[in-house]
Amino acid sequence: MEFKLQWGLLALILQSLIVAGECFTPFNVTYDGRAIIVGGERRMLISGGIHYPRATPQTWPDLISKSKEGGLDVIETYVFWNGHEPVKGQYNFEGRYDLVKFVKLVGSSGLYLFLRIGPYVCAEWNFGGFPVWLRDVPGIEFRTDNTPFKEEMQRFVKKIVDLMREESLFSWQGGPIIMLQIENEYGNIQNSYGSKGKDYMRWAAEMAVGLDAGVPWVMCQQTDAPDYIIDTCNGYYCDSFKPNSNKKPKMWTENWDGWYTVWGDRVPHRPTEDIAFAVARFFQRGGSFQNYYMYFGGTNFGRTSGGPNYITSYDYDAPIDEYGLLRQPKWGHLKDLHAAIKLCEPALVAVDSPQYIKLGPKQEAYVYSDNGSKCSAFLANIDEHNSVTVNFRKHAYTLPPWSVIDYISKNWNHFKEPIGVWSDSNFTYQGILEHLNVTKDQSDYLWYTTRIYISNEDISFWEQNKASPVLTIDSMRDLVYIFVNGQFTGSAKGKWVKVSQPVKLIKGYNDVTLLSQTVGLQNYGAFLEMDGAGFRGQMKLTGCKNGDINITEYMWTYQVGLKGEFLKIYAVDKNGTIEWTELPSDAIATIFSWYQTYFDVPDGSDPVALDLSSMGKGQVWVNGHHIGRYWTLNAPKDGCQTCDYRGAYDSDKCVTNCGLPTQSWYHIPRSWLQASGNLIVIFEETEKKPFEISIKSHITETICAQVSENHYPPLHAWKINNGTISLNQTAAPEMHMRCDDGNTISSIKFASYGTPKGSCQNFSRGNCHAPDSISVVSQACIGKQSCSISISNAAFGGDPCRGVVKTLSVEMECSSSSSSSSSQMI
Ligand SMILES: *[C@@H]1O[C@H](CO)[C@@H](O)[C@H](O)[C@H]1NC(C)=O
Ligand SMILES: *[C@@H]1O[C@H](CO)[C@@H](O)[C@H](O)[C@H]1NC(C)=O
Ligand SMILES: *[C@@H]1O[C@H](CO)[C@@H](O)[C@H](O)[C@H]1NC(C)=O
Ligand SMILES: *[C@@H]1O[C@H](CO)[C@@H](O)[C@H](O)[C@H]1NC(C)=O
Ligand SMILES: *[C@@H]1O[C@H](CO)[C@@H](O)[C@H](O)[C@H]1NC(C)=O
Ligand SMILES: *[C@@H]1O[C@H](CO)[C@@H](O)[C@H](O)[C@H]1NC(C)=O
Ligand SMILES: *[C@@H]1O[C@H](CO)[C@@H](O)[C@H](O)[C@H]1NC(C)=O
Ligand SMILES: *[C@@H]1O[C@H](CO)[C@@H](O)[C@H](O)[C@H]1NC(C)=O
Ligand SMILES: *[C@@H]1O[C@H](CO)[C@@H](O)[C@H](O)[C@H]1NC(C)=O
Repeated sequence: MEFKLQWGLLALILQSLIVAGECFTPFNVTYDGRAIIVGGERRMLISGGIHYPRATPQTWPDLISKSKEGGLDVIETYVFWNGHEPVKGQYNFEGRYDLVKFVKLVGSSGLYLFLRIGPYVCAEWNFGGFPVWLRDVPGIEFRTDNTPFKEEMQRFVKKIVDLMREESLFSWQGGPIIMLQIENEYGNIQNSYGSKGKDYMRWAAEMAVGLDAGVPWVMCQQTDAPDYIIDTCNGYYCDSFKPNSNKKPKMWTENWDGWYTVWGDRVPHRPTEDIAFAVARFFQRGGSFQNYYMYFGGTNFGRTSGGPNYITSYDYDAPIDEYGLLRQPKWGHLKDLHAAIKLCEPALVAVDSPQYIKLGPKQEAYVYSDNGSKCSAFLANIDEHNSVTVNFRKHAYTLPPWSVIDYISKNWNHFKEPIGVWSDSNFTYQGILEHLNVTKDQSDYLWYTTRIYISNEDISFWEQNKASPVLTIDSMRDLVYIFVNGQFTGSAKGKWVKVSQPVKLIKGYNDVTLLSQTVGLQNYGAFLEMDGAGFRGQMKLTGCKNGDINITEYMWTYQVGLKGEFLKIYAVDKNGTIEWTELPSDAIATIFSWYQTYFDVPDGSDPVALDLSSMGKGQVWVNGHHIGRYWTLNAPKDGCQTCDYRGAYDSDKCVTNCGLPTQSWYHIPRSWLQASGNLIVIFEETEKKPFEISIKSHITETICAQVSENHYPPLHAWKINNGTISLNQTAAPEMHMRCDDGNTISSIKFASYGTPKGSCQNFSRGNCHAPDSISVVSQACIGKQSCSISISNAAFGGDPCRGVVKTLSVEMECSSSSSSSSSQMI
């Protein structure tokens, strides 16, 4: 049998691995040109990102333990300034923002922590992590040599470092923190700030180091970082990266193992083969630390997603999915890869640089050897063209564990949100105010209302010409709804786009009302403080008889937010604040409505999601917790057909969800739910009614896998003997299956070794099928939490069809032996 290796690695080692203990005795962290030195020893470290506010504290232990099991040494997180200091001087380190608790949990699991303070973090997080009040600091300019900014930044960074020190969380105190980051990808925008950019970068570095944290600091994407800061690489590939000094180790702070998603876009995936290739090649070429961005992405709860227009899910196609479930085969394959790298670790750290051996035009090996006692080699085939094509959609598990659908269908209550001004907090100003200057981001919504006088002359002019006047706005972001005399007239969305909306006006006074809306504040780029939102330039009525009517400097009345939002009618203790009216099933659809009801959920620990694909756009709360924004925008119909993982990955390759809503399901954390009487409140902007909203969970979990004979060989097939690398040709690839959360494999729904067709939940036999398929798989897996099956003719009772590449496709059900989840109608 011939194995065609797309990415390869292997290792043999004569030393046992170093396992981190359950608690730390104090140790120092330093580095040299080869690696980070932890407690005096060079280490090859595998790190993974988990952003604590993108999960609930109740799930942190499970996520950390799944990370450890997946072979991580380090958990990485950003620090979210706007979450910790929502109002200037008022700090929040509670709940999802309990950073100390998160760091301690990481430490007690025996993992290290890499804290990226920023405090600019980008992260597809609202305003890149900056509190919106920062814009109002007099004279402020962000991320440049500007005193007001530097004072605020230093105050917050010091606050975090001091807090970590007070809690004894640094390594030299016996805590897990081994490394810190200041700023974030500043090198990408530094040139926009001229020489002040360089001055600021140097200041940030010096300020950080001056805080005496006692562990190394890094700056990512900062090729001119000073000597005492490690410059690191972010990207899909960092094997050719070199730090700016040979005294610094080669580090990869963000290995993008997926990508973020925008409303109305397809959903990106990064194939595991490509990630594994990139990681192996990074270590092969002298890399010493790599961090998956993200290992668990999670959820942008509330209004925390950045923008413009990033969706509520931050799943990121990460090895642990948004719901905390293992994403297979990604998690498992990377776990194998990590085990291999760990086997190599002693050899990798023993030499300063590997020996390079060219094996062919596009094949190469890197051998790490200290003259026989340890040895390790990475083989790579970097030929993009001569390789087996793997169908990614077949190859990936198409994860459909969501089998129960309950409609939240009866007894919805309704409250109509007023159009325009609704309270005494309205005010009038002559001219157009900038959106964020008015809202301070307390709400996505800002109403603008003015009154335009239309003469008889204009009316007859339009009648004669069968024309309408057009409301034009020079530039707008992110979304505007236009109302004339209380009637919805049109909308526009985009980032600084021109709006031209034909309107129907009557003789005399006409009320023009605009609802300006942000959908996640800009989180990337230079000059964020000047970005703003809402309207820019002139606003006028064109196509009038006597020239344009310029309404820019009219008297405008402003109203921040929605009435329901400000009355907090989504809160659990607010029953009675407003009069909800029952929504009849044949109710006439109206826009801008609040809907409310109560629902039950099945017991258990299975994740729960709300299916909002029947709705339009809005926000949703459950038991007072803000689940997030929702928006049912469909992705373009095309672009999902192919995924060739050979060659450089980019986020347009390997996408799914063509022609479907970008996001349909919204995660409700279990800890926010009780068995019955959960309050759900929805604000819906369009005419959609809530009767089709459903709750998803799953009684049984379905797992699927598909592995071919020509899949890469397993770890144990490789041997290095006296400097010679060999592949055991008889060692077959393996399929690994595993149920989540202690569940066991209860039944085999499909198994075929041969040429099976279809994908998960829709497999079917092909022309070639080994009769033993089901019995072999059953014997290996039933009743177990996890199992491995060898993909070989021998394992399946002989070759079912000679000369054909065989594949094993399997679909299994997991169930818990104890309680079986059930469902109830709501
Ligand atoms: C760490 O380094 C400091 C300064 O060199 C030294 O005083 C301290 O003893 C070291 N701690 C450990 C645990 O090695
Ligand atoms: C291996 O042996 C050679 C020759 O004895 C020596 O120069 C070299 O430093 C050794 N390498 C290591 C890593 O010990
Ligand atoms: C707008 O504010 C003014 C002044 O505070 C108040 O008199 C008026 O009633 C408010 N409008 C609405 C609709 O609440
Ligand atoms: C926002 O308000 C500040 C003063 O608070 C002002 O300097 C700035 O020009 C305003 N921005 C816009 C776009 O109007
Ligand atoms: C509209 O009015 C504003 C304020 O008076 C003025 O600055 C602007 O030039 C006018 N725009 C047009 C197109 O006349
Ligand atoms: C909410 O208030 C109404 C009217 O006071 C009452 O009938 C209803 O039971 C209350 N619902 C809950 C869940 O408290
Ligand atoms: C290892 O290889 C070298 C050179 O090929 C050979 O001289 C030596 O005997 C080999 N050692 C063993 C233990 O096989
Ligand atoms: C090669 O792999 C097969 C199957 O795993 C195993 O039985 C055999 O012992 C291996 N051979 C060597 C030389 O390691
Ligand atoms: C199931 O697979 C068959 C072919 O194997 C295909 O034609 C059909 O579209 C698939 N159905 C679904 C729902 O994917």
